[in-house]
Amino acid sequence: MKKTLIPIVSLILSFSNVLANNKPEYNDKNINNIINHLTLEQKARLLVGCLGSDNGLSHTVAGAAGYTFPIDSLGIPSINLADGPVGVRITPVSSKKYTSYSTCFPSTTALAATWSEEMAQLEGNAIGDEAKAYGVDIILTPGINIMRNPLCGRNFEYFSEDPYLAGIMGSGMINGIQDKGIGASLKHFVANNQQTGKLYNDARISLRALREIYLRGFEICIKNSNPWTVMGSYNKIGGKYTQANPELLKTILRDEWKYTGLVMTDWYKKRDTPDQLNGGTDLMMPGEQSQIDEIATGVKNGRISEAILNESVKHMLKLIFKSISYKGWQYNEAPDLAGNAELAHKIATEGMVLLKNEGSFLPIPEKAKIALFGVTAYKSIAGGTGSSNVNKPYIIDISTGLEKSGYKLNERLKGIYTKFVEFQNDLLNKHPESTDWEKLSYNRTVIPEMDLSKAESIIECEAKKNDMALIVIGRGSGEESDRRLEGDFYLTPEEKLMIEKVSSQYHSLGKKVAVIMNVCGVMEMNSWKDKPDAILMAWFPGQECGAAIADVISGKVNPSGKLPMTFPADYFDIPSSRNFPMVGETKEGKNFDYTNYEEDIWIGYRYFNTVNLPIAYPFGYGLSYTSFSFAEPRLERKKGKWVASIRIKNIGEVSGKEVVQLYVSAPQTSIRKPDTELKAFGKTRNLKPGESEIIELQFTDYDIASFDANNSRWLTQKGKYKLSFGSSSRDFKATVSFNINKDKSWKVNDVLKPVEKVNVMEFPHKIGEEIKDNK
Ligand code: BGC
Repeated sequence: MKKTLIPIVSLILSFSNVLANNKPEYNDKNINNIINHLTLEQKARLLVGCLGSDNGLSHTVAGAAGYTFPIDSLGIPSINLADGPVGVRITPVSSKKYTSYSTCFPSTTALAATWSEEMAQLEGNAIGDEAKAYGVDIILTPGINIMRNPLCGRNFEYFSEDPYLAGIMGSGMINGIQDKGIGASLKHFVANNQQTGKLYNDARISLRALREIYLRGFEICIKNSNPWTVMGSYNKIGGKYTQANPELLKTILRDEWKYTGLVMTDWYKKRDTPDQLNGGTDLMMPGEQSQIDEIATGVKNGRISEAILNESVKHMLKLIFKSISYKGWQYNEAPDLAGNAELAHKIATEGMVLLKNEGSFLPIPEKAKIALFGVTAYKSIAGGTGSSNVNKPYIIDISTGLEKSGYKLNERLKGIYTKFVEFQNDLLNKHPESTDWEKLSYNRTVIPEMDLSKAESIIECEAKKNDMALIVIGRGSGEESDRRLEGDFYLTPEEKLMIEKVSSQYHSLGKKVAVIMNVCGVMEMNSWKDKPDAILMAWFPGQECGAAIADVISGKVNPSGKLPMTFPADYFDIPSSRNFPMVGETKEGKNFDYTNYEEDIWIGYRYFNTVNLPIAYPFGYGLSYTSFSFAEPRLERKKGKWVASIRIKNIGEVSGKEVVQLYVSAPQTSIRKPDTELKAFGKTRNLKPGESEIIELQFTDYDIASFDANNSRWLTQKGKYKLSFGSSSRDFKATVSFNINKDKSWKVNDVLKPVEKVNVMEFPHKIGEEIKDNK
């Protein structure tokens, strides 16, 4: 004891300020001093996480994903980290004043579909407020991985197939959280694009695709929002775990992008700890004793240098000193759950995408009599499963939301579905002993659709009594697995039959039908989308699900969401379908141990629009109950940037918002580029009929560069470029051109080569037929 007292006393005396709670005030200036006073054991413990049940934690939060060790003798507290993407994932605890539920916001995909950086920021603010109220230091969000293939089980946690949209929305969320004094964690760095074999998979990606597609969104987030932490992914790139890859974590992240925060591991599967530290990871989560031992031994036997150890300790201490735990924040007031629920509701409505609306069927007049089909209408899906699940206070089912909005639901159908849902709940509820919130959150299973093949007479008889039919299609998704093709990407036979029967029955009576999709992401639609009159993509809308859907259905809110990804005509049209695992079939080797990203940069609209292949719905697409004109397109060069503007006017009958998407098309250059690439976007305010707004958007020469892998540089080649103002990636309203007078380049390091050469698709061609042969 005496031994440690002397340095501590001298350490404390050497700090000029003392915090109110008598802790020494640490800062960047005296941080080296602290590091010099730490023992090897203390340093090692700082770099390895621990569980809440470990000794010495003065503050724990039930359900947090992990903690760091405190060093009580120096007044260095433990900090805690909690998921996640759609709200603060903790276990609700009841006190006399309140129960610590968290608001469940719409899925990340739904947030992306708002195309509103402001919405991302506001959601970040609200999550930050709740984290602060519950004493959470770091929120493990946002995940900005690219939707490479629609079957990735975690796509609902991700923003887009486009790195620019993902990067801007992700940085909006980070800024929102961090403005509240809570840290965010940009994850999963990098190429976490499949769940199958996720712990070991080597993502073999060309340098160009890595830089332009997979790293780009991270680069944008680091530069625009400086997240306090970055979480490495589980997988490998270039044959090396990302968490132990100095080319990724040091050369690119720190040297090129100038990142100064902390890098941590993702949660499971311990790796070689010295390798991870040397590779640029600072904090091992969730942490185990063997990692502490490995660090201590590694330093003693020279595998880890003092300099590397101290650098990571410095990152860790800087993070701790920014945290609310260190600052002694008092958290005993409930957050504004009612206000945040309103925000979740607003974001949900703003992210819904109206895919089809023939004969302006929607919005549906007040008090209409509705036949509501589909089990998900009566047990709706707020979000996905896994670490992004939030313990929410409630979920408003779609049936409830519609009824509360004044619609009259067909009682007979409601009775049948309610009983079916109860029966399925009993069958599937594996945890009968669970508390109510557990049932609501963890165990809210997605139940299979009812078989209506024997219900024709009911459909027919009830059709006469209703004004119209609404059909809800539901799809869950989660961290545990990728999606299947049959019965998931494609409709199940029961769903097909339901859409078929209900549509033909109602149409024969001159009545209309709409489909509401309460789903994780992309589904096959071409084979059935002509049957209903209207289709609304509601995604996972969060806890306000039914209420938000009712607002869009009734026209209280005019939909303004746009697709953040392409809906292809068929799965096998997607270039990456050649190199993506099939659940249940892929268990080793190709697409499990390694995945060849042969499609290179040709992802989503970059491919489909370049080869002009028919699709179901394009990237950026979404209808409105009103229409807009685009006029006065302009482009100027101001202070080294391109500044584009356009006037958007509401020329319809109801108020609404429009998204302006700026796409750049390059001249013929030596690097083959996609026909168009999104380079900026903006959204109008709610414009009344006749009102207009000028939207101004900016981009730089660097933003339009492509990666020239042969020369390790970003390159913008000279020539005449086209700039299109789109309402979607296939609907350009105005185009202007601009010249780049000479080649411009930005040199970077020649790193991250795949260990095995990948046969990349260098020139895109229509591969549909060829791929179908491989089925
Ligand atoms: C997930 C992360 C999550 C972490 C902590 C991991 O399995 O991949 O996204 O933040 O668990 O719960």
